[in-house]
Amino acid sequence: MRNRRREGADAALTRDMVSAMDIRRATETLRRGGLVAFPTETVYGLGADASNSDAVARIFKVKGRPIGHPLIVHVASAEHLDRWAREIPDAAWDVAKRSWPGPLTLILKRAHDVPDLITGGQDTIGLRVPAHPVAHALLTEFGGGVAAPSANRFGRISPTTAAHVREDLGAAVDLVLDGGACSLGVESTILDLSGDRPRLLRPGSITPQELAVTLGRRCESPGSGGPRAPGGLASHYAPRTPLRLVTASQLERVAAREIAAEPRVAIMATHVPAMTPASGSRWLTMPSDPPGYAHSLYARLRELDSGEYRLILVEVPPEGEPWMAVHDRLRRASSVRTEVDQADTDCAP
Ligand code: TXA
Ligand code: MG
Repeated sequence: MRNRRREGADAALTRDMVSAMDIRRATETLRRGGLVAFPTETVYGLGADASNSDAVARIFKVKGRPIGHPLIVHVASAEHLDRWAREIPDAAWDVAKRSWPGPLTLILKRAHDVPDLITGGQDTIGLRVPAHPVAHALLTEFGGGVAAPSANRFGRISPTTAAHVREDLGAAVDLVLDGGACSLGVESTILDLSGDRPRLLRPGSITPQELAVTLGRRCESPGSGGPRAPGGLASHYAPRTPLRLVTASQLERVAAREIAAEPRVAIMATHVPAMTPASGSRWLTMPSDPPGYAHSLYARLRELDSGEYRLILVEVPPEGEPWMAVHDRLRRASSVRTEVDQADTDCAP
């Protein structure tokens, strides 16, 4: 019943936005070693045939991504796990059953013949079954694994629309499948099950609490001993405009001080300002619920980044697990800045 409903949804979506012909053309492009950008429910991915090393090498070139940063392999269903991973623990099957298709990447021990380029030379591999109907249709038709990082230039804000992909990567991508705006808007939760204890390598829409229910234990935070996840680098997901995190209680005071010094300041907050912002500055009110905030975060940051602002001030969102992914991305977006006023920042998840 569930499958039939999903097939119906696939057909409807592929009819509305991406046709069966587009999916066939995308599949042929992948088979030829080309690059296809495609929507997932998290962010757009830049895909290549994972079993074609030359095609995978192009991903690194087009993104400007250093070799050594491992890529997630996307597959149509958990049935493909054995092809890419070995010694798969029961916990992985349990989590896959509960969270796939969906915004979760599993890190497992890699199968012996997986190219080093995909794993960054590590003994592990990242695998994900996305839920977006276009991604699902593409992966089903293609049949193999599609290696795909987010379809942005390395270190920049991930794309949540096809227009963002074109803006960043232009003609370097052979085909862009336009599946509309990504519903979740932040990258998948990454769960490492390759070691003795489950570790959360990147927070996403699936919370540690949800994972703990399936695993029967809490995940550990990333620390020493686990696999490298270079996407966990500070200064990832960053706009070009300096971004500074400010606590809610200090926001209006800091905004007034900055605007008085030089008005081209943008402010992102979950409340409406008490006073009309000075001309030249902009106050952007964000949704106050975590899914709504996450959904628009990257699009809004891109919008502010393309304005003529000298500074983006972001109100630190509330605490709590549902906000963890948003906190994480904002912290990374702000981490290249050196002038951060410590009294005004407190954003560790
Ligand atoms: O939501 C997502 O995960 C999106 C969509 C397109 O699926 N993909 C994405 O890919 O965010 P990317 O490459 O931008 O981020 C993948 C992260 C990186 O931090 C990378 O280091 C980590 O996953 N990763 C991939 N394979 C890994 C491995 N074998 N061990 C540890 N970390 C890994
Ligand atoms: Mg990325």
